[in-house]
Amino acid sequence: MKPIIVRSNHWIPGASWLLAVSLLLLVVMPSPAFAAEVDCLMCHENLAKGKVVHAAVQMGCTSCHTGIDATDVPHKKKNKIAKGLSSMPPELCYGCHEKKSFEGKKAVHPPVMGGLCTNCHNPHSSDIPKLLLSELPDLCYGCHDKQKFFGKALHAPVGIGLCTQCHAAHQSDHEKLLLKEPPDLCYDCHKKADFSRKNVHAPVAGGMCLSCHKPHGSDYFALLKREPVNVCFECHAGIRKKAHAIVGMLESGHPLGVPKKGKKPVEDPARPGKRFYCGSCHNPHTSDNPSLFRYEARRGMELCLNCHKK
Ligand code: HEC
Ligand code: HEC
Ligand code: HEC
Ligand code: HEC
Ligand code: HEC
Ligand code: HEC
Ligand code: HEC
Ligand code: HEC
Ligand code: HEC
Ligand code: HEC
Ligand code: HEC
Repeated sequence: MKPIIVRSNHWIPGASWLLAVSLLLLVVMPSPAFAAEVDCLMCHENLAKGKVVHAAVQMGCTSCHTGIDATDVPHKKKNKIAKGLSSMPPELCYGCHEKKSFEGKKAVHPPVMGGLCTNCHNPHSSDIPKLLLSELPDLCYGCHDKQKFFGKALHAPVGIGLCTQCHAAHQSDHEKLLLKEPPDLCYDCHKKADFSRKNVHAPVAGGMCLSCHKPHGSDYFALLKREPVNVCFECHAGIRKKAHAIVGMLESGHPLGVPKKGKKPVEDPARPGKRFYCGSCHNPHTSDNPSLFRYEARRGMELCLNCHKK
């Protein structure tokens, strides 16, 4: 078999003008390593076809495949490692990428810990930025059950695959690979001012957004964790036991919007299209008014007219 690797300095020796041309070619070509490179691509051109080509590929195939002798097909292998690689991922990758960017923090993504770099990245090239094997969120759903993220309503950034606006792909100092803890994470996209009026609801002040909301998707409106009234009852069980809001007028107090079996939920008269419940009278986050009233009111009675107009 004739050698496959053709170096430019082997080209037609003799005629000095030809030498001049080949020298010129050498100048035009970025590096001798790249010249050897072109040879592998003669047969493996598909590997470098993606829109994004790994910089390591430009450094030469043999920067990773040290054990491939390509003078014959099938190639002879000079080592016992799969594909004639110099080592297996992740060590292979850590030859050029700093290991501490991938391991060592409090939470390491298990596939990164397991060295499964090529479960997410193509080592050669890809049409997707960062050499990813598929677009987000599909890449993630390859291992994470898609069903678990969905509900009747989906958080907008989850729907469009912005998983990495909230999560680190490799590792993080925060639990669940979060880039930041709530509420700062949430304030990246939601205006902090909307949560910081004169009176702030204790769990909001404590940054416990996730005591009421799910981060990805939910069957209830506003990504609530459960049936909205029950979200409030979880910490305010006492409200259920005594007359609320109107004392003396109705013995049972004001209706609270607790859903009744088989009946359609009552509509909030002040917010057509929305459910009537605790959040119709109280702002769940913050308010300039006492008792977190949703509307301008110093006393309960000033609240009534927002819904009971005469
Ligand atoms: C003349 C065409 C040709 C050239 C040039 C060539 N290859 Fe290949 N290569 C093949 C073919 C065909 C196969 C698939 C057959 C096989 O698996 O051995 C292959 C397979 C491989 C494999 C997979 C081996 C395995 O164990 O699965 C690697 C890695 C590889 N080539 C690397 C290289 C590198 C690096 C170069 C340049 C130094 C190169 N090839 C040059 C034709 C070529
Ligand atoms: C950054 C390191 C790296 C570089 C540079 C590199 N490869 Fe690979 N190559 C790999 C790894 C890792 C695998 C194994 C992929 C896997 O297991 O999915 C692989 C697999 C292959 C295979 C087997 C087929 C496949 O797609 O899995 C071929 C053929 C191959 N490489 C050829 C080349 C050629 C030709 C070049 C230069 C154009 C090159 N490689 C450059 C890391 C590299
Ligand atoms: C021979 C050196 C070398 C090796 C080995 C290597 N890389 Fe790279 N890689 C680079 C260089 C250089 C860059 C470009 C600069 C940067 O982003 O750090 C890069 C960039 C990347 C990028 C970002 C690409 C982009 O478009 O922004 C990814 C992803 C990547 N490498 C993954 C890997 C994986 C996975 C491995 C192991 C299978 C690996 N690399 C092994 C040198 C290498
Ligand atoms: C679960 C999938 C997954 C695994 C496993 C994985 N990565 Fe990544 N990697 C990503 C995603 C997603 C990005 C893009 C992150 C972003 O855009 O914020 C990325 C980005 C990168 C980058 C570019 C860094 C940058 O800041 O732009 C490099 C380099 C890289 N990965 C190397 C590796 C190496 C090496 C391994 C194995 C130790 C590995 N990755 C394992 C998903 C993964
Ligand atoms: C190759 C498989 C694989 C892929 C792809 C993958 N993951 Fe994971 N991920 C795991 C495994 C395994 C766990 C641990 C078990 C679990 O929590 O499901 C995990 C756990 C997590 C955790 C929880 C970490 C913790 O500390 O509890 C987050 C967050 C996560 N992955 C996000 C992502 C995101 C975002 C993507 C897409 C960029 C992604 N994963 C892609 C395998 C994968
Ligand atoms: C708006 C920010 C945000 C986005 C976008 C986001 N997540 Fe999360 N994710 C979180 C938070 C916050 C948690 C922690 C939930 C907890 O602790 O109860 C989490 C938890 C997880 C977990 C751990 C599961 C569990 O219940 O412990 C996985 C896996 C995960 N996310 C994957 C993804 C994937 C995949 C995507 C993209 C489809 C994504 N996330 C998008 C904020 C986000
Ligand atoms: C990457 C940006 C981003 C981050 C980070 C983010 N959100 Fe969102 N969120 C949005 C967008 C976009 C919408 C839809 C537009 C809107 O209602 O403002 C939304 C809507 C919501 C809604 C209303 C959903 C509905 O159906 O009415 C809630 C609740 C919510 N986010 C809670 C959170 C919480 C809690 C966090 C932190 C754990 C968070 N968000 C972090 C972008 C983000
Ligand atoms: C005590 C429970 C609770 C806590 C804690 C909480 N929320 Fe809410 N959130 C709700 C309820 C209930 C709604 C629906 C309000 C309605 O009826 O319009 C809501 C609605 C939202 C909306 C939709 C727009 C709006 O203002 O109505 C966003 C965005 C939101 N919350 C983000 C957050 C963020 C960010 C945090 C943490 C800083 C947080 N929430 C903490 C209960 C809570
Ligand atoms: C995680 C626990 C928790 C949840 C869930 C919760 N709260 Fe609270 N709430 C508190 C705490 C703690 C206080 C302050 C102590 C107190 O007054 O009981 C408070 C106080 C209040 C106050 C009185 C504020 C004042 O300034 O007097 C109102 C009104 C209120 N919550 C409404 C709600 C509504 C409406 C919901 C459901 C959307 C809800 N809460 C869900 C913990 C919670
Ligand atoms: C019709 C309007 C309205 C509805 C609906 C409503 N509230 Fe209230 N709430 C009030 C008024 C008015 C006050 C002030 C009472 C006072 O100061 O005497 C109040 C006070 C409170 C307080 C602080 C004082 C206390 O009693 O602890 C909490 C906590 C509270 N509400 C929680 C809730 C929860 C939880 C729900 C739903 C289960 C709910 N509210 C539904 C109007 C309402
Ligand atoms: C956010 C809107 C809203 C506010 C504010 C509000 N209500 Fe109501 N109220 C309703 C709704 C809706 C019903 C019917 C609930 C149902 O049928 O379950 C109702 C029912 C009542 C009833 C019972 C009527 C009946 O037919 O049983 C009385 C009495 C009442 N409200 C008085 C008040 C008083 C007094 C205030 C001020 C302290 C007030 N409401 C504030 C929405 C509101």
